[in-house]
Amino acid sequence: MNNKTICFFDSGIGGATVLKEVIKTFPNENYIYYADSINNPYGNKTKEELFKIVCDVVDKLITYNPKIIVCACNTATSMVLDDIRKKYKDISFIGIEPAIKVMYDNYSDKKTIILTTTGTKKSSKFKKLYSKYKTKKSILIDAPKLANLIENNKDVYPYLKEILKDYIDVEVVVLGCTHYPIVKKEIQNILKNEVFIDGSIGITKRIKSLLNNDLNNSKGSINIIGDTSKKERILNIIKES
Ligand code: DGL
Repeated sequence: MNNKTICFFDSGIGGATVLKEVIKTFPNENYIYYADSINNPYGNKTKEELFKIVCDVVDKLITYNPKIIVCACNTATSMVLDDIRKKYKDISFIGIEPAIKVMYDNYSDKKTIILTTTGTKKSSKFKKLYSKYKTKKSILIDAPKLANLIENNKDVYPYLKEILKDYIDVEVVVLGCTHYPIVKKEIQNILKNEVFIDGSIGITKRIKSLLNNDLNNSKGSINIIGDTSKKERILNIIKES
């Protein structure tokens, strides 16, 4: 029995779209999922505000004896994770970034939109990544209200129709926020795009290399903390195939 945990956090339910993929490969681990809905949306915060918020989350997660802390949020990764790593030198962190290298490698001839939060779009970390992998056919757009609408289980159609109206002919959508896979169906109903790209697959590989066989052999568990009222929605996302 290994009492160490793999911890996840996000500004609410979005990171569950990442946890769902990770659990398929590591079903016996003990997971702690911190749903920081109270601070949603992260994408509209300043860097200073978000750094403080994430420090509070990390301080809490440290009490759960983490092997790894997964920042299951593109916005927090892009805006503050480098500074968080400097502050918490003994902790192994994994972050998530919009999977635009996958777009560059596989779909450079397809019209593509990269959908992110405002915080991610404005961050210098993401700007560097984007200038490396943007293609002639890629368009970057931020959706300042989308993560919060999803978090609060609101109808996303009117907002999506408004922000996507000029991109009806796109073939590929990069989901640059972990909340966005939750509304894939709604996006596809509007755009009829063939392909979605999200970054969660890469996270499993990174966890594998960091764990280096430090695996739990007995039955695993999932403990949801933070906004526990989101527990059912989080578990439903993890269960969906
Ligand atoms: N799931 C977060 C992300 O991946 C949502 C950001 C927000 O709260 O604005 O960026």
